[in-house]
Amino acid sequence: MNSKITIIDHRTGKPYDLPVDQGAIPAIELRRVKESDDDLGLMSYDPGFKNTASCRSKITFIDGARSILRYRGYPIESLARDSNYLETAYLLIQGVLPGRDDLDGWVEQIKRHRDLPECIQQVIKAFRSDAHPMGVLISSIAALSTCYPEARRLDDTQTLEQQTYRLIGMMPTIAAYSLRHRLGLDVIAPDANLGHTGNFLRMLGQRQKSGGVAEISEKVLDVILLLHADLEQNCSANVMRCVASSLGDPHCATAAAVAALSGPRHGGANERVLEQLRKVGSKDQVPGLLKRVKAREERLMGFGHRVYRDYDPRARILKQIAEDVFAEIGSSPLLDVAKELERVALEDDFFVQRRLYPNVDFYSGIILDSIGFPANEFTVLFAIARTAGWLAQYREFLADAEQSIARPRQIYDGEDEREYIPITDR
Ligand code: CMC
Repeated sequence: MNSKITIIDHRTGKPYDLPVDQGAIPAIELRRVKESDDDLGLMSYDPGFKNTASCRSKITFIDGARSILRYRGYPIESLARDSNYLETAYLLIQGVLPGRDDLDGWVEQIKRHRDLPECIQQVIKAFRSDAHPMGVLISSIAALSTCYPEARRLDDTQTLEQQTYRLIGMMPTIAAYSLRHRLGLDVIAPDANLGHTGNFLRMLGQRQKSGGVAEISEKVLDVILLLHADLEQNCSANVMRCVASSLGDPHCATAAAVAALSGPRHGGANERVLEQLRKVGSKDQVPGLLKRVKAREERLMGFGHRVYRDYDPRARILKQIAEDVFAEIGSSPLLDVAKELERVALEDDFFVQRRLYPNVDFYSGIILDSIGFPANEFTVLFAIARTAGWLAQYREFLADAEQSIARPRQIYDGEDEREYIPITDR
């Protein structure tokens, strides 16, 4: 329902009626609030976008206080139980659950776009064996834009669709080729007989036999990808939309989004969680870590979230998966440490008052470690998963007539005009 609020500018005594639509004031309306005629008008100041909606979106719904996550209206719990990554990617990008023919066509197209162009394979081979996989991933995706210059035709729906298949299809291949190159191993080409996750594991060299750990890995990894597929306007989704706003092509936009994901406050957290848990080592060391966290010497990785001020529903699903995996393959001291850390933290005033709960990264690293992934690959897996969400956000942005180039304002706090001083006089 449309409504309005009235604010009074006490600098001038003037009242202003501002429209309120879906719980938000259009920030541009603040421009009308002026101290004088040559005033540019009031701005809102919001570092970190803590209270700014940058778009209208129909993709993902989060309620941080009630632990809710829905993709296109479907609860994450039912998708994790009944769907799979590629079907969920279709849902996020196309907006509906596919019928059988649509799903088959979608999967087929993604399979057809798994092979990497020769020049991208050369890009990967150019990196040193100790290169961080996220740097390799960012560079390889950016390089894809040079292979497909037609990707710049953003108004051509078919071309856009093709870049969607390419990015979803090639991300696992880039990740697998990059890992094998760094290990000094020959690459394993994509296998058209295998599904998205099974093929990825095979290209990594982890799916030599069927049954046992390989089978658990495929199922578990597919759910992990699905859980990471989107999370509305987070840091990397915002970057994706920013690049879309300048009409940058989907490959450049995805490379930029992967760069945003790489930091330890975003996707890089899962790698750090494992590091932190290993450093703690045993349950009796948990109080020592929490003491350091409360003294602000370090952050508890895998805890806290901008939106989830209650348990992250993805962390709840992953905790259960961790229990199931370790029931199958034997116990894990790291899982015991994590559970103890969670128990103690959730009873501690510091975490209770700030409403800090485990997030998606808290249990994912332990699971990935157990199925044989090196820790520095964790964020790469996150990027593979998030490609679906990024493309959904990118395409929604392009279709949104209300949007224009993302260009925030600033409050200039620097020097006033001053004279240049020659270097000899400084
Ligand atoms: N450990 C200790 N204290 C924390 C933590 C943490 N993990 N997270 C937040 N706080 C404290 C923070 O010090 C601040 O305290 P005070 O008000 O006394 O200064 C308060 O809680 C609010 O923190 P904030 O940094 O203002 O919150 P934010 O919404 O800007 O940050 C966050 C969200 C995810 C960056 C942050 O919680 C964090 O750094 N967590 C650890 C890294 C992590 O696990 N990241 C993965 C996020 S989920 C996956 C993803 O989206 O990529």
